[in-house]
Amino acid sequence: MKQMCVKAPINIALIKYWGKKDELNVLPYNPSISLSLSLYETHTVLEQCASPGLTFTLNDLADAKSEKKVREFLTFFPFDETKEGLIIRSYNSGPTAAGLASSASAFAALALACNLYYDEPYSFEGLASITKKGSGSAIRSLLGGCVEWDTDGRIHALDWPFEDVVMGIVVLASQPKKTGSTEGMKHTVQTAPSYHDWVKQSHQDAKAFKRALQDKDFTQLGSISEANALALHAVCADAKPPIHYLNEQSNALIKGIQEARKEGLFEVYCTMDAGPNVKLLHRDKDTTRLTQWLNEHGWPEVRLSRIATKGAHRCER
Ligand code: DP6
Repeated sequence: MKQMCVKAPINIALIKYWGKKDELNVLPYNPSISLSLSLYETHTVLEQCASPGLTFTLNDLADAKSEKKVREFLTFFPFDETKEGLIIRSYNSGPTAAGLASSASAFAALALACNLYYDEPYSFEGLASITKKGSGSAIRSLLGGCVEWDTDGRIHALDWPFEDVVMGIVVLASQPKKTGSTEGMKHTVQTAPSYHDWVKQSHQDAKAFKRALQDKDFTQLGSISEANALALHAVCADAKPPIHYLNEQSNALIKGIQEARKEGLFEVYCTMDAGPNVKLLHRDKDTTRLTQWLNEHGWPEVRLSRIATKGAHRCER
């Protein structure tokens, strides 16, 4: 029986994607830049089965909402439910739909697994262009390291000069978010008066971020990333009615980190996505001080992650 197994890392954007200028082809209004992380991944197995139809499980449980999306995604491949039997088992090692990029790793893994299972109907570029139709940010999980997704819909690996950079994730809530990213960004594009300015600023942030990479300037890189994340939450709050992904705890943690940084305790920068969890970008030398500080202030334990050097890939045997 035919089988295929693929793994893909999550990725966290330091320059955020928020809004599609072309919904059909999933082209973003602004470039985004992310880091693929080794902490959480999706592991997806495709298996041929004798009786026709699709069976999909997520972490070994049936999930109708995800199954619907998977079925839609399979239309990019020569899968015929009336004639062919296919079992897809997907496992997320992190919390699902809590702003920790589980849909990014999930669709990157699914896209590559389907492409390999059906004997590569798509080139890498073709694969990238369909992966983003599953979820925009998933396109960046096809590659490891630091990845830019540009407004023409293509991805590029950027040279990442900081070998000692770590991303810490503080999980403040692991329940699925109230407003999904797809819906949230559409609402922001349509109703936030400051959306146009936000797009302009994001283009500038992406340029400045790449300059900081070239200059190997971590302070600059961290500052741009934190400001870019806060600007995302500000533009969401400007939507009518507003969307608030951060909760009181997230805001208190961000404030505490900023104050400790100003006092020179450590150099840690915050980034947050469509959920309340806070991710902390820093260097190895600050890990001990950061974990101590979090502990002393009663925050949940930080989960530390290195950068994943590999993007979506076939499982090793
Ligand atoms: C805040 O990729 O989940 O994480 O393309 O509609 O599936 P869709 O949205 P999605 O949005 C991610 C938004 C973000 C920022 C980012 O990852 O760049």
